[in-house]
Amino acid sequence: MSKVYDIGILPGDGIGEEVVNEAQKVLDAIQSVYGFQTKREPLPYGAEHFLKTGETMPDAAFDRIRQMHAVLFGAIGDPRIEVGKLEFAIIAGMRHKLDLYVNLRPVKLYHESLCPLKGKTPKDIDILFLRENTEDAYSGVFGFAKKGTEHEIALQEMIFTRRCTERIIRHAFELAKKRGPKPGKDKPQVTLIDKANAVRAQDLWTRTFAEVAKEYPGIATDHAYIDAACMWMVKNPEWFDVAVTTNLFGDIITDLGAMLIGGMGIAASGNIHPGKVSMFEGIHGSAPKYKGTDKASPLATILAMGLMLDHLGEKEASVELEATVAELIQSGKIRSLKAGDHKCSELGSMVRDAVLARGRSKR
Ligand code: IPM
Ligand code: MN
Repeated sequence: MSKVYDIGILPGDGIGEEVVNEAQKVLDAIQSVYGFQTKREPLPYGAEHFLKTGETMPDAAFDRIRQMHAVLFGAIGDPRIEVGKLEFAIIAGMRHKLDLYVNLRPVKLYHESLCPLKGKTPKDIDILFLRENTEDAYSGVFGFAKKGTEHEIALQEMIFTRRCTERIIRHAFELAKKRGPKPGKDKPQVTLIDKANAVRAQDLWTRTFAEVAKEYPGIATDHAYIDAACMWMVKNPEWFDVAVTTNLFGDIITDLGAMLIGGMGIAASGNIHPGKVSMFEGIHGSAPKYKGTDKASPLATILAMGLMLDHLGEKEASVELEATVAELIQSGKIRSLKAGDHKCSELGSMVRDAVLARGRSKR
């Protein structure tokens, strides 16, 4: 009997619905080729649901999601609603309440035409970012005093615990070990990115990284402060292999990374708790101006769905899906990822058809 996975489908706001629809089209194809099934359950949360019911994401939804294998997520954010409200309740809500401590964000260039850096090619840009996903400035510890006065004070704490710092660093080393050395290197490498020279609390990261590294003699280590890391990403992205960093810095540097590989239309991410239900999304936002226009690229969500397949244990399907997207880009069939250059639905159909064609040629 074929395997059946329980998947929550949470399109959210803006372009969320259209990109998730395209990813589901591709999922239909890939499961028919690889012989597994998915039971998909819609999760209606987002701006419309909030405006109708006053509910962001109820505890019952988290309880339901805990019974699932994964959630495929579109985007959250709507100009009609107070900034941060839904983002915090739904995106950070899932990351925190489901303890999705690994934010995996691959930065991989599929064709040099997608990279704005002069002279950089796919062999130069293949980085796995591991962003800590539960702490730091996202812990929700903040407040205002003397609000509205000229003496107003605003505070937001960057919180780091030994346990959460260690588990993401360890995950980075484990992934590096699994991934093996990059072409031309004799060891895989993990780079720690922090700002421990100024944010002294991040000395916890420095010490934890050094201790964990000792357990992995087969893995080279490197370190860069976040400001310098941004510089090296633009100047010498080939220096990075696996990179591990804090929540806030990881948020920022992966947007920079996205721009090196073709933009928000292709940058995927997994919010993962190894062995437990996890959530997969493009790193882009809801882009309200493109909602319903069929212009947004669904490739980020499609590739995020590929990361989901890997998480589910459908390794071969995951590798094949990524190869399919890469081939469509390398062959020039996908010419551009700029909003509107291809229709959203057209890109989804192209990937679906290519998955089916490659599947047939294998049999
Ligand atoms: C991301 C987003 C979120 C973040 C926002 C929407 C809260 O930018 O997933 O990168 O800051 O983590
Ligand atoms: Mn972000």
